[in-house]
Amino acid sequence: MGRLAIISDLHVDINHFTEIELQQLVDVLLAEHVTHLHLAGDTANRLETCQKVIQFFSGSIPTTFIFGNHELADVTGEAMMAHFPDDHFLNERFVPLNEKKVLLGFTGWYDYSYSTMKTTEEIVRLKNLYWYDRLIDREFSDPEVNQLGILRLEKILKDLEEKELKVVLATHFVPKKEFIVYQTGKYQRWNQLNAFLGSEELGQLIDRFPNVERVVFGHTHRKFEDTKLQQTIYSCRPFGYFYEWQLTRRFIQENQLMESFQMAKIRSILKTHQEAFDEYKKSHLKQEFQSSMTLIDY
Ligand SMILES: [Fe+2]
Ligand SMILES: [Fe+2]
Repeated sequence: MGRLAIISDLHVDINHFTEIELQQLVDVLLAEHVTHLHLAGDTANRLETCQKVIQFFSGSIPTTFIFGNHELADVTGEAMMAHFPDDHFLNERFVPLNEKKVLLGFTGWYDYSYSTMKTTEEIVRLKNLYWYDRLIDREFSDPEVNQLGILRLEKILKDLEEKELKVVLATHFVPKKEFIVYQTGKYQRWNQLNAFLGSEELGQLIDRFPNVERVVFGHTHRKFEDTKLQQTIYSCRPFGYFYEWQLTRRFIQENQLMESFQMAKIRSILKTHQEAFDEYKKSHLKQEFQSSMTLIDY
């Protein structure tokens, strides 16, 4: 028996993490008797940082990882993006969890299928203006990158089905529309960014393989209850940025730092109460880690 922990969107650089915070996460994982850690993308913006983090965790727990969109801005070439030469890298590869089950890593991509915008031109224009991924140098269009990845994944899933192996699939992007939020009213303009969240085709592929027992993904920076769709349980509880954490909301509420909650003002409020926030973080970060991981016994 073992226990797998999957965590996405640690964003260690944006969250200003040092080894102190990373050790707190290790402490949580060890207390939970985790025997394998998998990081499902957006661990860091810089590749070097991402690899250092993997090395750090590997010192305590066997660790694998895939890239999210944030690492990809620091990787050159499609071959490196898909098959980065690192022993811990698990994109489009699998490791056995036991004799009946494997952990399969797959970064994935997006094809605009969740978009509310009418034309590809509009979507591409928005991406090149605002979206982080404009920094990623891809050799094909987004729908083509997505399609090529899905074809490669299909081959792997067929192979695993023939071998009668159960699959835990760890991916970065959103595979099902059920996890896409469509806002109304004044927040409606945020719906435009749904174009870059994932691909319905990935979910449709998974539906064809009943041996895929679990799918764990992130990227949305929004947590959902575990949901069973067809034969598969989907889990999404990304860790996210410090100004999105539950602990940050509690810190602001408990200290009555805002009359009504406004996301846009959080960072400046934290800056003016940096010392108190750092103290609060020290004693509550473990709880935040705990609520941002998916544990799977095998
Ligand atoms: Fe992220
Ligand atoms: Fe992401």
